[in-house]
Amino acid sequence: MEAPFIRPRVCSIEDPLRLAVLISGGGSILSSLLAFQSSEPRYHRTVIVLADRENAGGLEYGKRAGIPSVGIPLPKEMEGTERRLAHESLIQSQLQSSRAEVLILSGYMRIFTTSFVEKWKGRIVNIHPSLLPDFPGANAHRDVLSAGVSTTGCTVHLVDEGVDTGPILAQREVPVLEGDNEETLQERVKKVEHILYPETIDLFCRGRLLI
Ligand code: GRF
Repeated sequence: MEAPFIRPRVCSIEDPLRLAVLISGGGSILSSLLAFQSSEPRYHRTVIVLADRENAGGLEYGKRAGIPSVGIPLPKEMEGTERRLAHESLIQSQLQSSRAEVLILSGYMRIFTTSFVEKWKGRIVNIHPSLLPDFPGANAHRDVLSAGVSTTGCTVHLVDEGVDTGPILAQREVPVLEGDNEETLQERVKKVEHILYPETIDLFCRGRLLI
């Protein structure tokens, strides 16, 4: 039997939910979340930024905001499942010591093992750059362009044991234009992600989204 989704606790502006943001790359969506959180009192705040590499550009956004921001590469001395589990246990230690309550995946390019997902199920949120269930996986923009569809978009969803399969919290459409390539399409979709992700995280933390 699959593990149940357990919602985050009820929070308030005085006692906001403690978010951990996980990234792999430039972190432009992390940056828009941090701007959203600093613009007025919120029901959530970012307490740690974690990356799966030491040189992830987005760690700088966390550091600049005074938030502990740590790159945790995969252990070199192992491989396969042993390596994944050892990496997740390093991540889990950081989450515990920062007393994180919700995980926000923001361009985090790793798939968690089932045992990790089960620990956090209902409290891991991801953003994916397509209209799920269409075009899951790591190459959404490329797949959208090869399929020749005229509309794409982005999806915020809870993470379950599958890849990009969890319950959908919000979606927004973005047009595919004549002559688009992966870069132009990614740029147009990201503009929408920068707005949709902070807004949806906010509603989710306030318990306003039913799943
Ligand atoms: C976003 O397009 C997100 O949907 C995908 O990775 C990208 C992250 O962008 N999962 P950035 O690193 O925040 O700029």
